Amino acid sequence: MRASCAPRKAPPRRSERLVFSGRFVGVLLLAPLLLLPTSSDACDDPPVFVTMKPQGALAPSYGPGDRILYECRLGFQPVTPGQVLPLVCQDDNTWSSLQEACKRKLCSNLADPINGQVIFVNGSAEFGSQAHYVCNKGYYLIGASISHCDISGSGVDWSDSPPTCEKILCKPPEEIPNGKYTNSHKDVFEYNEVVTYSCDPSNGPDEYSLIGESKLICVGNDEWSSQPPQCKVVRCEYPVVENGMILSGFGQKYYYKATVVFKCKDGFNLHGDNTVVCGENSSWEPELPKCIKGHPSPTDATPPNDAEGLGAGFIVLIIAALLALDYCFACTAVFADERRKGKQNVALRTALIRIKQPLQQNR
Ligand SMILES: *[C@@H]1O[C@H](CO)[C@@H](O)[C@H](O)[C@H]1NC(C)=O
Ligand SMILES: *[C@@H]1O[C@H](CO)[C@@H](O)[C@H](O)[C@H]1NC(C)=O
Repeated sequence: MRASCAPRKAPPRRSERLVFSGRFVGVLLLAPLLLLPTSSDACDDPPVFVTMKPQGALAPSYGPGDRILYECRLGFQPVTPGQVLPLVCQDDNTWSSLQEACKRKLCSNLADPINGQVIFVNGSAEFGSQAHYVCNKGYYLIGASISHCDISGSGVDWSDSPPTCEKILCKPPEEIPNGKYTNSHKDVFEYNEVVTYSCDPSNGPDEYSLIGESKLICVGNDEWSSQPPQCKVVRCEYPVVENGMILSGFGQKYYYKATVVFKCKDGFNLHGDNTVVCGENSSWEPELPKCIKGHPSPTDATPPNDAEGLGAGFIVLIIAALLALDYCFACTAVFADERRKGKQNVALRTALIRIKQPLQQNR
């Protein structure tokens, strides 16, 4: 008590420094002496063993002729039963040699559970090792999946009692409004069994859309692979993009997942995504793009893009025309020279515009 309180009193600094320097000098003077071989009559501290410990408490020191008896630590047993394990302080103040002489005790053998297996992950059932339990496919484990071979009383034993493996079963999945699932008459579903949801026919003008996963699988005990889907009317408004037009996805009604692709009129640039999808909340995702006046960038006005809007029949026509033009260039020396100079694109584009103009007037 007194020792621990003393530093808090904070004695005068000057005297503290004096005491300190005094001691320091003392240590310096003693140092050479400490390095000299000592002739004290004692063995060093006894060695520490992994599997053994001294019987009882250690003495403050051991001189020649003194001995320590060792016994196995808890969880260990003598390799040779009944063997005495003495360590002797010899005349030259060294300890006699003593080898580790105890081995790990073994826990009882464990049987595989019904419909499962026990795995000795450390390769044995000795003290300190673990037993892991797993159940066969279609079964789940009740109890502790890992047991430790631990000290128990004076011996060793498994820390937990063996688990059991039970058959995986699922309760019927949730009912949903405006829809049903297959086999709904059953009370219980097996592992890996699948139910398929579908939406009822609607009484109103719009059909129900199924949102989410239509198939649910029993993947664990009372565990389905996902939430049941929803059946509801999803209908997006007719998508209007000012100064733009629909390239594909014409229709009267746009239900769930309906996809529309837009293009801007000549002289307008598309800002946003050119493709939108009717989302589960009856809104277009992402939001509708905008067509903003400006000079078309080169990538916006490439002929293939223009061709998309003309319908499959016209595309075939244009390709045929391009092929014909190409053939024409190929067999004409003058044009071949021009092609080398990279003027072919200009020529092709001019030709294309010539093909397109009558088509656009027809629309
Ligand atoms: C036994 O194996 C487990 C898992 O691999 C490991 O964590 C543990 O340290 C091992 N125990 C011994 C005593 O080797
Ligand atoms: C649709 O609405 C629900 C409820 O308001 C919301 O939780 C969900 O995130 C929305 N879905 C989308 C794709 O915006």
